[in-house]
Amino acid sequence: MSDSIRLDGRVAVVTGAAGVIGAATMRLLAARGARIVAVDRREADLAAATAGLPASAETFAVAADVTDEDQVAAYVRQACNRFGTIDVFFNNAGIEGEIKPITAYPLEAFRRVLDVNVVGVFLGLKHVLPVMLKQNRGSIINTASIAGLIGSPQIAVYSASKHAVIGLTKSASWECTGTNVRVNCICPGLIESRMLSAIIEGRSGAPVPADKVVDRVPARRLGQGAEVAAVVAFLASDDASYVSGAAYTVDGGRTAA
Ligand SMILES: NC(=O)c1ccc[n+]([C@@H]2O[C@H](COP(=O)([O-])OP(=O)(O)OC[C@H]3O[C@@H](n4cnc5c(N)ncnc54)[C@H](O)[C@@H]3O)[C@@H](O)[C@H]2O)c1
Repeated sequence: MSDSIRLDGRVAVVTGAAGVIGAATMRLLAARGARIVAVDRREADLAAATAGLPASAETFAVAADVTDEDQVAAYVRQACNRFGTIDVFFNNAGIEGEIKPITAYPLEAFRRVLDVNVVGVFLGLKHVLPVMLKQNRGSIINTASIAGLIGSPQIAVYSASKHAVIGLTKSASWECTGTNVRVNCICPGLIESRMLSAIIEGRSGAPVPADKVVDRVPARRLGQGAEVAAVVAFLASDDASYVSGAAYTVDGGRTAA
């Protein structure tokens, strides 16, 4: 993979850092020279995820729940205290929720998905934007999904939450008018991961053969966390200086049809 997009010295906060996409992105941003603030729920998961980073990487881990405003304010404050600012914010933590049709979906489970995927992204924007607007520089990348672009059976609330992330992204981009702060989102498709397996097995009640899973993906394979990370690194970098308010698909062509 090309190493042309350097992020030397930039401070990058990554939420959901212990997950498949968060960890892959953290690794790539660190390899490109960024200083990393890793945020996830549990300290042990953060320790395991940050252990894989290059020895040269400056890394700081903060355990926080993205649905709790005090904890969000605290990780933003701690990132600024430690590294002086935030240049890149990968607002990525998310859950798939239960895999059930709307008619069987428990209200509490519905609210929990909205809480993590929408309130969590909103709180991240609310507390990171002031830091970036003050320095008149920064790049925010929210994680939506192709489920934010198209409907998806048995994950209606997940799909609704990711549609909301795209709306938050576009609105935040407008609220940065006239500044050097950019806000974009990514829409990953079928990425090889625990979350994808949970959704597929939750729908069918059993593992599904790999060729069946990708039969509507023009690339005819699952994506990798590193391929999502590459798009995040581009959006984080100055190479994306004229990109804001965009929803970038990383889906092997799945939504092109
Ligand atoms: N895996 C896919 O195929 C896929 C496709 C499209 C979009 N996405 C999105 O990408 C993002 C990352 O997904 P992933 O595949 O890496 O999943 P994952 O489950 O491996 O990682 C998600 C991480 O978010 C953390 N998290 C969940 N709730 C949290 C909370 N309240 N506070 C702090 N951290 C919390 C989890 O602990 C976990 O480490 C999610 O937003 C997901 O919806 C994933």
